[in-house]
Amino acid sequence: MKRYDEMLPAGIWRRLDHIGVAVSDLEITANKYQQLGFTEIERENLPEQGVEVVMLDGGNCRLELLAPLRDNSPIARFIDKRGQGLQHIAFETKSLDTALADLATRNIVPISPPSIGAGGNRVAFLHPRDTEGVLLELVEYP
Ligand code: CO
Repeated sequence: MKRYDEMLPAGIWRRLDHIGVAVSDLEITANKYQQLGFTEIERENLPEQGVEVVMLDGGNCRLELLAPLRDNSPIARFIDKRGQGLQHIAFETKSLDTALADLATRNIVPISPPSIGAGGNRVAFLHPRDTEGVLLELVEYP
């Protein structure tokens, strides 16, 4: 039997990895989602990004709750401008460098160079102006 991994398509966007939700108060929202039946699977601070993260198991896709660690973090600015709610959609990519090189040939560059995101994975974000309004995250597992 083929491994799930081998059945994934070869392109940049392999599979939906998680959906990012911006929240003001991590405790309140994590509790609310647990009341909705979601299970917390991971919790971590990402000081460089200025966020505190709770990952929830959503069956075939995880939900990433993101709360600001400081007032000037991108997630704090997002909430100031647009309120709580859907913030980004993340797809797994096999090789972040290959994906970004491919996108660069189409004049699409990430918002900033790849960094280490939730779960210790390498990540990069594409600006909503390049995606017709959706902040897209690329995730490469170690
Ligand atoms: Co994310």
